[in-house]
Amino acid sequence: MCGIVGYIGEKQALPIIIDALKRLEYRGYDSAGVAVLVDGSVEIIKTAGKIRALEELLSSRSISTTMGVGHTRWATHGEPSTANAHPHCDCSGRVAIAHNGIIENYLSLREELQAKGHRFTSETDTEVIAHLVEENLRDGNLESALRSAIRRLQGSYAIVAMNQEEPERLLVARKDSPLVIGLSEGANFVASDIPAVLPYTRRVYILEDEDIGIVTREGITLSNEGGDPVSREEFAVTWDAEEAEKGGYEHFMLKEIHEIPRAIRDTMRTRVTDDNRLNLEEIKLSEEEIRSLDRIFIIACGTAYYAGCVGKSIFERLLRIPVEVDIASEFRYRNPIFSENSLAIIISQSGETADTIAAMREARRGGVKALGIVNAIGSSIYREADCIIPTWAGPEICVASTKAYTSQLIALYLIALHFAQVRGRLSVEEVACLLAEMKHLPEQVQRIFDREDKIAALAEQEELKQCRDFFFLGRGLDYSASLEGALKLKEISYIHSEAAAAGELKHGPLALITKGMPVMAICVQQELRGKMLSNIKEVAARGAHIIGLVKESDSETEKAVAEVIRIPENDELFMPVLTIIPTYLLTYYLSKALGREIDQPRNLAKSVTVE
Ligand code: M6R
Repeated sequence: MCGIVGYIGEKQALPIIIDALKRLEYRGYDSAGVAVLVDGSVEIIKTAGKIRALEELLSSRSISTTMGVGHTRWATHGEPSTANAHPHCDCSGRVAIAHNGIIENYLSLREELQAKGHRFTSETDTEVIAHLVEENLRDGNLESALRSAIRRLQGSYAIVAMNQEEPERLLVARKDSPLVIGLSEGANFVASDIPAVLPYTRRVYILEDEDIGIVTREGITLSNEGGDPVSREEFAVTWDAEEAEKGGYEHFMLKEIHEIPRAIRDTMRTRVTDDNRLNLEEIKLSEEEIRSLDRIFIIACGTAYYAGCVGKSIFERLLRIPVEVDIASEFRYRNPIFSENSLAIIISQSGETADTIAAMREARRGGVKALGIVNAIGSSIYREADCIIPTWAGPEICVASTKAYTSQLIALYLIALHFAQVRGRLSVEEVACLLAEMKHLPEQVQRIFDREDKIAALAEQEELKQCRDFFFLGRGLDYSASLEGALKLKEISYIHSEAAAAGELKHGPLALITKGMPVMAICVQQELRGKMLSNIKEVAARGAHIIGLVKESDSETEKAVAEVIRIPENDELFMPVLTIIPTYLLTYYLSKALGREIDQPRNLAKSVTVE
């Protein structure tokens, strides 16, 4: 998400910081800033927009400094603006903080600090860190002040702090958000990502959770939160810059698939308490409005639409009210019939898809409130929707959407559970049981990653590499996952792929099944398992090469398929989050085996901003 850079050394710091920030641009950002020491005072220069805009601001100044911190922000708390850009400072302007991550308890901390007289100038969660440090800086020691401050923080952070009274050091701390220290002669670096420092050094320390570090030009001192010294092994980076951007993965697609557990956790974080209660105050719909809903429209394009297909089943099951799911480009021209108490749920990773924006406006013109599920904070849908549930997938770079899809599913589950609770269809205890199940998802996705070698080996089979057509089969929620699986495969591998609702086979698609044709059969819904098994046998009888996605306990379906990928078991509502993972991995490895342009497939763009 955001990018952090820090430098302390003998050279002019600003050109190095700006250059290093540019090396993190691939991660996406909406504002940028630097904090430097000028004539013994901290000075913060920041702006909304790109690093180019920051450079313009800096060009009118002649700043000479050998130490500083830079940041590129991907908005989370508060819109992209100059005030919300990092670094942030305390009331006195002596302390500057750059931060990546999310401070979950920032609202209560902010209230507490405001009551003590601290003045806030941004809407960010980060700013509480600067004021907490200020609160503890009475003896003038940044290290102990930072140590006390982070004891109060819940959530994730990578922090770089500077204090004008201590011009010879940068302080760093991390928990659940990456931070590295780059080592070189007469200078040291801090960065959220290795590519930032690669032109300057290949020697890095990768900090671990709860590490706190003092970085000076001569060296590094590391300790844990309790103050005991710790040492980290020096790591020699052998990748080139492009490989490093991908975190050692060959493609962004694979990196982003592997970020799914983190993205799920982040999308649940702050919304699900430790004792499994829902906290969705950010949905600005009153309980009365939620109770009176009589129809929901889910509107989106592509992958986001397929997330909506899962959403339809979930909302109808849990709420028993009619849900229509629409492709945005169809919705905007079909003259839909709204009721007085309709709600439109608009799903979009980019928040800039032209058809989705137009469809949202159409719904709002019809008097319908729009609830946006959006990944890009500050985007058009984010700004125009009546209320927003952001997904915390982080920037998605590969054209194919993967971690955004699973985060959209999580957001839909949370909204559905919230509505079900408010409408009295589920008790607080029943919701708590379901949330407890949801919390297993990241670790279960990880368990599917443990089977990645097997999936990669499947992609080397000639039946798959030579095929012209590929079918996905499923029923119910498994059919919804099939739709997304088929889109991904066609988008990246260029193999013609289709999803069929298994019950429809005999009404047409079965005519296309020929000997050796690959069919991925998703079969993890207990109630539909018998029917699905019959469909699997139908395609097997026509010689299809069947890859079955089956529950770990389902030994019967396993016998009916040529290849099996076992899926860990969770409540059936949540199984699409798990079944989609092997389809993504198979798409990736098959496309790689076919030599495709994985991150930028032909003819496609990441954000479709024209109709
Ligand atoms: O940014 P959005 O979620 O609105 O984008 C919608 C589709 O363009 C997008 O999901 C597209 O289908 C992906 N390339 C699929 O992987």
